Amino acid sequence: MSTLDIVGISGSLRRASLNSAALRLAGSLLPAGAGFEQLDWRDVPVFDGDVFAQGLPPSVAALRERIRRADAVVIATPEYNFSVPGGLKNLIDWTSRGDDQPWAMKPVAILSASMGPLGGARVQYDLRKVFLYLNAALLTKPEVFIGAAHTKFDGAGNCTDETTRKFVGDQMAALGAWVGAVRRMKG
Ligand SMILES: Cc1cc2nc3c(=O)[nH]c(=O)nc-3n(C[C@H](O)[C@H](O)[C@H](O)COP(=O)(O)O)c2cc1C
Repeated sequence: MSTLDIVGISGSLRRASLNSAALRLAGSLLPAGAGFEQLDWRDVPVFDGDVFAQGLPPSVAALRERIRRADAVVIATPEYNFSVPGGLKNLIDWTSRGDDQPWAMKPVAILSASMGPLGGARVQYDLRKVFLYLNAALLTKPEVFIGAAHTKFDGAGNCTDETTRKFVGDQMAALGAWVGAVRRMKG
């Protein structure tokens, strides 16, 4: 049985997404015994308050419940126009409604990959701001920005860069410890 149940969300739906590759790398470097599942949010519609008033669409309800059940969430996302990709923000918006929203005190680790030199540094602070409002238990450090990401993963999405592997591994180790700390905090 897995000791930790971790879910991953990629901010990019692209088949050859560098962020999905980074997310898979993170999933492979979790503490021993942790389970990992990447969530598919392709079917989430654009948020519409009238639809919400009728009840959550099944794709949203399933994602919301899966996030609630998880011990932690790892998000790997590109930066779009210096900020959060619309699809990812839309998914967070849908799942954020209601007093029982699943992000409250949920351990969340963020990483980003970009072909540019900064590795999507700017998106992370916008995403952190969103999760601040939702009372998520954000992992603060280590931060992981994968710059020039196209040189660090091969065509099959495997990481070819030891430094990236080390940074992501360190972050996942910190996430494992953070889940324990948040559990103790909640009592
Ligand atoms: C709409 C759009 C906006 C983008 N804006 C940025 C940006 O602000 N900063 C950046 O570093 N890269 C930007 N990029 C480039 C992405 O970082 C690059 O395409 C990256 O590989 C996308 O992530 P993915 O490989 O996971 O799909 C943008 C790409 C798109 C499609």
